[in-house]
Amino acid sequence: MIDFTELDFTNKTVLEVGTGRGGTTIKLAKALKDFRGAKLITTDIYDGNFEELDRKIKDYNVDIRFIKTDGCELKNIEENSIDFLVCNYTLCAINSKSGSEVLALSRFREVLNFGGILYIEEEYPLNFVDNSMQQVWSRKWQLLRGANMLLGELSYNEINPSILEKILHILGFKDIQWQSSSHLITGDDSLEFFKYRFTNLLKRLNNSQIVEGLKQEMKDLEEYSKKAGGMEVPIYKIIAKKEI
Ligand SMILES: C[S@@+](CC[C@H](N)C(=O)[O-])C[C@H]1O[C@@H](n2cnc3c(N)ncnc32)[C@H](O)[C@@H]1O
Repeated sequence: MIDFTELDFTNKTVLEVGTGRGGTTIKLAKALKDFRGAKLITTDIYDGNFEELDRKIKDYNVDIRFIKTDGCELKNIEENSIDFLVCNYTLCAINSKSGSEVLALSRFREVLNFGGILYIEEEYPLNFVDNSMQQVWSRKWQLLRGANMLLGELSYNEINPSILEKILHILGFKDIQWQSSSHLITGDDSLEFFKYRFTNLLKRLNNSQIVEGLKQEMKDLEEYSKKAGGMEVPIYKIIAKKEI
């Protein structure tokens, strides 16, 4: 499986879809910084993190462009112009609008060069639970998405890697490989970010009985997480190539 730090990016153009808060962008900037002619383009449908991230990345001296665009459109990216396309933890966000991930993957193939590589990291769908720390991760999503649904909002929708593999195959990608792993988030504050997001969602719900019930669910999850020792996020990485 590909490790960014081992690739030769000389004169290569890398496109990131889904900048988010820049976790992967920073890793890419570090990987590209010593290669002549390497370019990084990072895109997201939301541009609220671009300025701060640009400041953080300045010291790496990488040629970087920020573009606000939907991953299904990739505005201002030419066909056959990208050598390495990275989309981490964003396909599920794109697929909040069900079916959109196929549109995005098809557009990814268009913008990739022949010989270009697609690299994706995603969390597993939330029914993938093998142990108590993964149960914490799954329950966290159940509660967040339950609240989203009560507010009438669309929520992230992860795809199983074996289904993604089949879609990539249908779209004409070759050399498709994937592997599973996980992130461990240990300690008593493993649910801090979840609690922040969930509490904000609850403030927008009108039914006080539902809100009380969901607050209790949050407390129960905290207790459960303490006993389990934290949270385990099951993920997979998948790569594929565009060939003639
Ligand atoms: C979990 S974050 C990405 C995390 C980031 N790639 C990382 O590795 O740290 C998901 C991102 O998807 C973006 N997003 C949601 N829908 C999108 C769409 N249709 N096209 C492009 N980006 C989208 C969100 O704005 C958000 O920044």
